[in-house]
Amino acid sequence: MQRRDFIIRSGTILTAAAFTGMFGKSNELLAPAYNSNENTSSKKRPDPNDFEQPVLKAIAIGINAPSPHNTQSWKFKILSDTSMYLYVNEHILLPATDPPARQIHIGAGCFIETLVIGAGTLAYNSMVTYFPEGYESAKDFGMKPVAKIELSKASAKADGLSPYINFRQTNRQEYNGPLISNSEFESLQQLSGKAHSNLIFINNNFQPYFNLFKTAFEIESNTFNTNEETRKLFRFSEQQRAETGDGLSIPQMGYHGIMKHLAENSLDNGNKEKWHSPKSIQLSVKHFEKCLLSSKAIVVWVSNSNTFEDWVKTGRDYVRFSLALTKQNFYAHPYNQAIQEYDEMKTAREELNNLLGIKGGEKIQMIVRVGRSSPSYFSYRRKLDTYLVK
Ligand SMILES: Cc1cc2nc3c(=O)[nH]c(=O)nc-3n(C[C@H](O)[C@H](O)[C@H](O)COP(=O)(O)O)c2cc1C
Repeated sequence: MQRRDFIIRSGTILTAAAFTGMFGKSNELLAPAYNSNENTSSKKRPDPNDFEQPVLKAIAIGINAPSPHNTQSWKFKILSDTSMYLYVNEHILLPATDPPARQIHIGAGCFIETLVIGAGTLAYNSMVTYFPEGYESAKDFGMKPVAKIELSKASAKADGLSPYINFRQTNRQEYNGPLISNSEFESLQQLSGKAHSNLIFINNNFQPYFNLFKTAFEIESNTFNTNEETRKLFRFSEQQRAETGDGLSIPQMGYHGIMKHLAENSLDNGNKEKWHSPKSIQLSVKHFEKCLLSSKAIVVWVSNSNTFEDWVKTGRDYVRFSLALTKQNFYAHPYNQAIQEYDEMKTAREELNNLLGIKGGEKIQMIVRVGRSSPSYFSYRRKLDTYLVK
């Protein structure tokens, strides 16, 4: 059966002591070059070494990319040993929280950039042609490719961000240490290179943003359709996570050990009544707020227009910035609730636009909090053949 209804929401229903770190080693120590680590050696994600065709090896690296709530809405048509089409998967969209499928297409961009950087480690350059058959509206989702990707033998060295692909992760734990400074942000921008979208960096006067992000999270949690999408996306045990290879879960929220078990038990395998109860929502908001208050900076991506291409290219920006963060031992946690395009969010969306001085056709595409933390639980990916179409 195909999953249709997914959603964006972070947070969980219990508050707990800060997660102390499952893997215990610093990224610098672990990342001399692209190699297998906990992600692949534990079989949580496909291993590029298991494939012969260069294009499949590149895909196996590309799917380490982030995607809105780990939906992995990617379909690949293999054209040759070194070329492919990328589509979004029209059966895996987020209709309640992401009505235009904007974030889904950002996820497609995240895949492209991860593949392109990863292919460099296999000694391939990638040529990316956006929307080679045109792309006009939702009727093209899954029918027309978002991109054609062609690999050719490279002579140049791999991208300096490539060692971090396998270590990048969304980290929803509390952050610690000092604020991220302007000069730290500048070096992150330098490491990530030229971006398509404009980046806004905020490291003081957080309060109006915190208020808005919390309100937006409350709206999302109290809107039945969006909250229900999250429930359908949640995986309530390690067995479910391993079987589906996607979605969100308690450990992805930063819990481990006894707290993970308590939280998973309290969710009662996704019992609908408990999930939507005021008590669960209240606890979830409390957890959200605790992490929000630990933000050490906020980064916002704003595009000059709001086209399909803006979405995909912002996804590429986001991956580059996330890998730069990983290199510098920082983490990010997206807070996209306030920019989502459903009716209940309209007021919050407009308030945020005013606060950030967004003009005319500009669009906020992505918002994250940034900070330092210990590594968190690594999310699964699906088996590679599940993404392939004829
Ligand atoms: C476009 C986009 C939007 C996202 N929005 C949120 C969000 O609002 N809240 C959140 O907690 N995570 C968000 N995420 C992070 C995903 O949930 C995460 O990438 C996914 O679960 C896979 O985990 P990983 O990033 O650790 O590999 C977003 C990711 C993308 C690409």
